[in-house]
This record gives sequence, C-alpha cells and structure tokens, in this order.
Amino acid sequence: MADEDSKTMTAPALRARAPSSRFVEVVSPGTPSPFRAREGVVRIGREDGNEIVIRDPFVSRCHLEIRIFPHGVEAVDLDTKNGTHFQGARIRELALKDEVSLILGKQVTIRVRVGDDAKAHRPDPTGSELVGNSPPMERLRAALGRLSPSPLTVLIEGETGTGKEVLARSIHALSPRSNKPFVVFDCAAVSPNLIASELFGHLKGAYTGAVSSSEGAFRHAHTGTLFLDEVGELPLELQPALLRALEARQVKPVGSESYQAVDVRVVAATNRSLEAEVEAGRFRKDLLFRLAVGRLKVPPLRARAEDIPELARHFAANLGGTLAPAVLDALSVQPWPGNVRELRNAVERAVMLAGGAGCLVTSLDDDLDFDDPPEGSSRADTLAPGSLVPPPELLAMQFQDAKQVAVDTFEREYLLKLFEAAGYNLSQAARVSGVHRRYLRELFKKHGLDTTALRALKNR
Ligand SMILES: Nc1ncnc2c1ncn2[C@@H]1O[C@H](COP(=O)(O)OP(=O)(O)OP(=O)(O)O)[C@@H](O)[C@H]1O
Ligand SMILES: [Mg+2]
Repeated sequence: MADEDSKTMTAPALRARAPSSRFVEVVSPGTPSPFRAREGVVRIGREDGNEIVIRDPFVSRCHLEIRIFPHGVEAVDLDTKNGTHFQGARIRELALKDEVSLILGKQVTIRVRVGDDAKAHRPDPTGSELVGNSPPMERLRAALGRLSPSPLTVLIEGETGTGKEVLARSIHALSPRSNKPFVVFDCAAVSPNLIASELFGHLKGAYTGAVSSSEGAFRHAHTGTLFLDEVGELPLELQPALLRALEARQVKPVGSESYQAVDVRVVAATNRSLEAEVEAGRFRKDLLFRLAVGRLKVPPLRARAEDIPELARHFAANLGGTLAPAVLDALSVQPWPGNVRELRNAVERAVMLAGGAGCLVTSLDDDLDFDDPPEGSSRADTLAPGSLVPPPELLAMQFQDAKQVAVDTFEREYLLKLFEAAGYNLSQAARVSGVHRRYLRELFKKHGLDTTALRALKNR
C-alpha cells in the first residue's frame, strides 16, 4: 500500500505556497478536459475522493498515485489486483517525464504529461509534429508558412483535440524565436484569482501566500512565444490588462505600481466562438481584434478523414506498433468527436493491448467496436436566456469547483433526457448526440447510471 507520508502531501495542504512552474496533466476517459496539478499527490481510482475517479470494474478503489516532488514526478501503483502497465510491462513505480500512456487495470488508458511552464519547449519529441496531407491541412500549412516568421499575434480556433497546441508549437518552431522559450499558459487551468499573478507576475507580499515574487508567464516567455490556451476563459476583468500587454508590450505585476517591458509573441487558442462570447458580453471585442491579427482554423478530423490512416500509423509507430490495413479501414470510418486526441488514445490503446512495441494490431477489441458514424450532428444555440444562470450555492464556491459541479449536473441530466428521447437505445443516443458510443457508455458509468436498469424502469 502507499505509505502515509505521501498521502498527507495533498494539493490542498500545499495550496498556500507559491505556484510551481512544473505541472502534471492527466487525461483520462470520461473526463473532457485534462486534470492539472502543480504539487502534491494526484490520486486515481474507482472510489469518490480520488482526484481522478475512474468508474471501471478493473480499476481498484485507490489505484495509482502520481507524486509530484521538487526533483521529479513518479507514478506509484498502490498494490492493485489488476496492476498498472507501461509499454506492456507491469509497473510498481515509474519515473515520469514528457508524456506517457499508462493502462490501469485491464482496459483504461490514461495519458500523463509532465511539463514546465518556465522552460523553453522544443517541438514535442514524442511525436506531436503536424501530420496529415489532406487539402485542409495543406492550406493550414501554407498559412503557417506565411504567419510563423512574422511577429504577428495569432488566434487558433478549433474543436477540442484538433491539434491547436501542436499548431502553436509549430508556429514557434518556424519563427525566428524558435531557440527562445515557448511558454504555455492555460487560462482554464488556473483559478481566476491567480490568473493575473500567474500571467503578469507578482511582488513578494502582494497577497496572502505570495511568499516570494514571481515573474509570471509573460516574463518567462520574454524573447520567445507565449501560448495562451483556452483564451476564451479569461475573466472579463483581466482582459484590459492582456490588451495592454499585447498593444504596449508592457505588463504590471500584481502589487507593483510600474509596468515592465516584455518582448513576447502571443499565440492564443480557443475552442469557443469568440464572436459569440463577444455577443454574450463575456469577451471584449477590441481584445478579439487584437488577438486575431492572424487567424487559423483547425478543421475537425471528420472534415479530413483522409488524414486518419497517416495519423493512426504515426501514433502506432511512436509505440513501435504497426496497424493492419483492416484496422486502418475501421478507424477511418469513425466520426471521432474527440478529434485527433481521441484517435491517438484509441490507437495507443490498441497497440498496448496487442502487446506494445513490435506488435501488429490486426483487430480492434470490443470496446473499440464502433457504432455507425452519426449522420451529421447539428448544434442548437437555443437555450432560453437565463436558463444557465448559476444558483447562489454555486456563486459561493470557487469558480473551478462551481464549474465542475455545474458540468457534472448537466452531464447527468443530459444523459437521462437523451436516453429517454432515444427510446433507451444507446446506439440511437450516440447518433443523436454525436458522441461516440464508447464514450457515451463511459459517461453513463461515470455518473453511476445503469442503462439496463433505466430501460427496465421505463417498462414498469
Ligand atoms: N496534425 C497532428 N499531427 C500529429 N499529432 C496531432 C495532430 N493534431 C493533434 N495531434 C495530437 O493530438 C493530441 C491533441 O492535440 P492538441 O493538444 O494540440 O489539441 P487541442 O486542439 O489543443 O485540444 P484541446 O482543445 O482539447 O486543448 C496531441 O496528443 C497531439 O500530439
Ligand atoms: Mg489544447
């Protein structure tokens, strides 16, 4: 079992410390956005109370800990029945760096990425260079070639998992700043009351817990590129400061009276429509114009299905595996609502289940036995005004916590209504929602909803 010392190093206990620039990001099934931590222990297991809960029968109640130390990061399997596997081998402890995939129990793949905002990043050696030669990708490459060498601010738009970060890294790599820092700042991952300090820095004592001064992402990126991910999440009250940083190339650290000059090229990304955010009064129009001097739209994977075989081969080759033609065909006809990230996860899982490096994947396991692609999903922007006004209980919580509660509540209600409307048929529900059937099943599991029991209830 895990030793108790490590268990006491929880993130909440250390929250008052100045944030570290190293972070760990965990992508797990059923969780739409990565879980990010900068310190302490991230616990993963089937039971509530873990930072990441995975409702899978082969995952133990407390399965894995990811321990973040000043000198490094390690994954520790908590003496589980079905184990944790890395590249086909069962592990007890594993030092983590860059990006790895781990299998928990028999079938759950998680990806763990160790990054450092303060360090210059080269294009990801684990294989995130831009793959794909479809006409939309070729157009994107041409635009990349034109925009990258310039100092222009660029806004990258696209659905989740389409490769916006890969593109941002490519812009940096193709720019004259390529040997300077590339700093990622995820506006959605930092609690709103810390964003100003993490972006612009702070002076020692500027607020409770600011035990030392900090440079902030802009100054870390000085002479290089700052990638502002999920820029649509930036609180309205911080937007003027960002506008000023972009226009005057100056930032004012929290607690300071004076501005400091910065030489930073900004690339921003969003999976929202910023025009719609402007309409809704949540995003400043002048900031949108300032960010979108250069604008790149990454098409969803379903709009460039011809890229799927090449991408799939690329991801399999990263793990030393090969995909049989039938597997490539099967992958090519899926809708991939989670785009390239979902494809990557599916391929890596298939390679690992087939034995890892040196294997030939000849078929996809049952869970990858996809349903028919949805027949064109439509998006209705038809919510009644005010229907998403948060209740007072949520307003009393920290934004990230409130958002989590709201998303969980929405997901559960959505699943129940969707299932009912689809006549309690999972395939039909997948078609209507445009969500992959496997992912939908995971969502039901995550919310403790038993589809068989729901179906039986309806017949009573
Ligand atoms: N064209 C591509 N070539 C190779 N790998 C890609 C490509 N596009 C995406 N990927 C891979 O897919 C995964 C998701 O890409 P990325 O993180 O850039 O997506 P994103 O658009 O930033 O997603 P999100 O909106 O969820 O943050 C990464 O593992 C990345 O390496
Ligand atoms: Mg991203």
